[in-house]
Amino acid sequence: MSTPKIGIVISTTRQGRFGDRPAQWIFDIAKQRHDLQFELIDLRDYPIPMFDAPIAPAYAPIANEEAQRWAKKVAELDGFIFVTAEYNHSIPAVLKNTLDHVHHEWKHKPAAFVGYGGTGAARAVEHLRSILVELAMVPTRFAVHIGMEPYLGVLRDGKSFNDYDFLKLTAGMMLDELAWYARTLKAGREESAVDEAVAA
Ligand SMILES: Cc1cc2nc3c(=O)[nH]c(=O)nc-3n(C[C@H](O)[C@H](O)[C@H](O)COP(=O)(O)O)c2cc1C
Repeated sequence: MSTPKIGIVISTTRQGRFGDRPAQWIFDIAKQRHDLQFELIDLRDYPIPMFDAPIAPAYAPIANEEAQRWAKKVAELDGFIFVTAEYNHSIPAVLKNTLDHVHHEWKHKPAAFVGYGGTGAARAVEHLRSILVELAMVPTRFAVHIGMEPYLGVLRDGKSFNDYDFLKLTAGMMLDELAWYARTLKAGREESAVDEAVAA
């Protein structure tokens, strides 16, 4: 089995966003591991229009070219870390839109989380977990929550995420758990693919 490849998704796109900072931080930590490969993915690079397809992607391939490019990227990856803010107690609409445009490509892949903002985006991450289950993904238990103090410390006071020991600790726990699921689910997907090929 090749080394599982994980996409670290910057899930906000607004001008002046904070999101690229925690994404770069977790990317720098993650890159030190040898059991997983990582790629930073910016939703700004996938400007998919609001979902308007006549049929859900679960039942018919999506026609929009930008969404097809996004689906191809999702298909290449073996797992995800969604780096997300909380917008009005849920996930940013741009993230929901990119989730809705793809279906089969998400299936049986793990998802971990880095949330940031007032409550460390706890409500958004919890909501995201339940959305991902509908896509047959496997959300991890551990997540990194960058709450008000580190959020403002980095935003306003020139601090680094690494100044907060609990963030480094939870990042390690989250990555360890993600690695287990990424390997296990990749093996399971590969075994199913062989079974399907034999049955065909
Ligand atoms: C539309 C909008 C809604 C927001 N709603 C919440 C919220 O429900 N809870 C919260 O803690 N912060 C909320 N915030 C504040 C965000 O946590 C903060 O602005 C964060 O930096 C947003 O991520 P971004 O900078 O990557 O866009 C909201 C921000 C925006 C722009």
